[in-house]
Amino acid sequence: MIVYYNGRYLNKSEVCISPDDRGFLFGDGTYEVVRIYQGRLFHMEEHLNRLARSLQEVQIRMKDLMSLSETGQILIQKNGLGQSDAMLYVQITRGVAPRSHRFPPDISSTLYMEITKRERPLRALGQGVAVILAPDRRWGRCDIKSIALLANVLASQEAAAQDAHETVFIRNNVLTEGTHTNFCAVFKGVVHTHPADCHILDGITRDLVLCLCRENNIPVAEVPVRADRIGEMDEAFILGTTTEIMPVILIDGNPVGSGGPGPVTRKLQTAFENKIKEHIR
Ligand code: PDD
Repeated sequence: MIVYYNGRYLNKSEVCISPDDRGFLFGDGTYEVVRIYQGRLFHMEEHLNRLARSLQEVQIRMKDLMSLSETGQILIQKNGLGQSDAMLYVQITRGVAPRSHRFPPDISSTLYMEITKRERPLRALGQGVAVILAPDRRWGRCDIKSIALLANVLASQEAAAQDAHETVFIRNNVLTEGTHTNFCAVFKGVVHTHPADCHILDGITRDLVLCLCRENNIPVAEVPVRADRIGEMDEAFILGTTTEIMPVILIDGNPVGSGGPGPVTRKLQTAFENKIKEHIR
């Protein structure tokens, strides 16, 4: 596999990362995951804008962020993935410095990018998935796409242990989001989702789905979704770059609504499918 590391295209096995890299020592960095449909980067500009914001919020400097679009395309070609469904992973850490909590002002950041083949989860998109609930033990800046993901990793592992697809977090009796997805519930035809504040990542898929709702006259409420209202949900779904619009049919073992993917979810899935078709045409 050919990857991109600090300005060079290399075989993955040739990449040498310093043990003093602050990404390794502190989880001091940010990242993005971008979808590739049939060799084309999906919503790359939105991902780069969010990356720029994350970097600014954590005071990491990186020049020429917009050129990463071209780097991504070159990686697709170099890896022979021009016709494939895949995903691009981009990580930027603060860089290399002797271990100390405070960072030197002149440090130069570390950039790593790789592309892996990734099929669409078509079966799960058709049938729907189970999720479990867990307390949201993450920090107070979930709007920053930080590589420090220990709380997400542990919660995701717990979902796997319980044969569930995802864990949805609860903070103060409110469903915030999943470990790597945003969460939506449908009440009487209205899509409810947590406001884009510091308790969730403002997902690129979430933004696209809000736009699809507007285009399809589906009303939206960006309001906290209370955990004590799970029994009233007609439908639920999770959203993400690799997850797309995934129907949630079970929450902690209890069926959501009719127990199958609902009509609003299906309508949004169809609209999303059309966006992919437009993108690869
Ligand atoms: N995760 N919320 C969290 C906590 C996430 O990590 C992600 C994405 C999302 C959905 O965002 P988007 O639609 O922009 O992918 C929401 C990526 C895919 C990951 O960590 O692999």
